[in-house]
Amino acid sequence: MTAEYAIETAGIEKIYASRFRGRQIKAVSNLTLRVPIGVKYGLLGPNGAGKTTFVKMLLSAVHPTSGTARLFGRDSQMPEARRPVGYLPENHRFPTYLTGNGMLDFYAALSGVPSESRRRRVPELLELVGLKDWGDVRIRKYSKGMLQRLGLAQALIHRPKLLVLDEPTDGVDPVGRRDIRAILDRLTGKGVTVFINSHLLAEVETFCEYVAILHKGRLALEGKISSLLSERGYEVRAREVPDNVLAALRQAGAAVSSNGTGTHLRLANIEEANRAIDEIRASGGLIESLEKTTGTLEDVFMRVTASERAA
Ligand SMILES: Nc1ncnc2c1ncn2[C@@H]1O[C@H](COP(=O)(O)OP(=O)(O)OP(=O)(O)O)[C@@H](O)[C@H]1O
Ligand SMILES: [Mg+2]
Repeated sequence: MTAEYAIETAGIEKIYASRFRGRQIKAVSNLTLRVPIGVKYGLLGPNGAGKTTFVKMLLSAVHPTSGTARLFGRDSQMPEARRPVGYLPENHRFPTYLTGNGMLDFYAALSGVPSESRRRRVPELLELVGLKDWGDVRIRKYSKGMLQRLGLAQALIHRPKLLVLDEPTDGVDPVGRRDIRAILDRLTGKGVTVFINSHLLAEVETFCEYVAILHKGRLALEGKISSLLSERGYEVRAREVPDNVLAALRQAGAAVSSNGTGTHLRLANIEEANRAIDEIRASGGLIESLEKTTGTLEDVFMRVTASERAA
């Protein structure tokens, strides 16, 4: 069986039973996502959006309330399906009395790497993440950036085909981020799929080729970053626009979406935006706002989370 996707979820969902007055928290809602093999994919969302819950479900660390997850075509609940995955958890803590060598050797042993190969693999990994001279130093002396790089080395021990990184550059300075990006680029060059959770727009914009935006547990948008960013133009928000006017605007090339509260129109340039406004006003519709969309990920993010809020 040749799998097409490194990750494939179908309607995956998690409801936590909160201890606070027996309330329930829907952390992830009916999420269907496909991550092609060999790409760098970013799951972006504000704090509490459900990113960590999502990856924990992929790795069976959290049991989904419903839905399924597949890794390279195999049900992620099977341990063999998770074997080709390397994972860097959010806020990881390694025993600080260990040295970098000791820690990697310990995790390599846990991953079932035989001791012969460990002797070669550990220095190789330290070199890969730029910690070659730090192997004999205790982890307590490592800076945050070094800890993240060590975490990355840990995730790479068994040469995974899929790397799942939860906030990989948390607390890392710009130079450290660039170093991590270079390491990830080298890995994707070798066919490794990289899946990153992040609440940092710029990080996803520079690291990834694909993005999914999660907002309050729901998938707000998914796509290739290059095509999302080519969406420069204008956005008009309006209300009470007659259907025949919407149809005519659509015919003239506007992208139109409507929800319970109104209509959003995306137009390629200022002339088209003004023409649309004239037609809407002439038909008795109301203009709420006109905005220039600059085609940054931040712009896309604000737009989708705003329309989700309104929905
Ligand atoms: N074990 C748990 N029990 C109850 N609620 C939880 C649990 N873990 C997470 N939650 C809740 O689920 C929601 C999603 O949390 P999650 O940690 O998945 O978000 P996140 O996108 O990773 O956020 P961050 O950017 O802060 O890491 C939040 O409302 C959180 O409080
Ligand atoms: Mg998280």
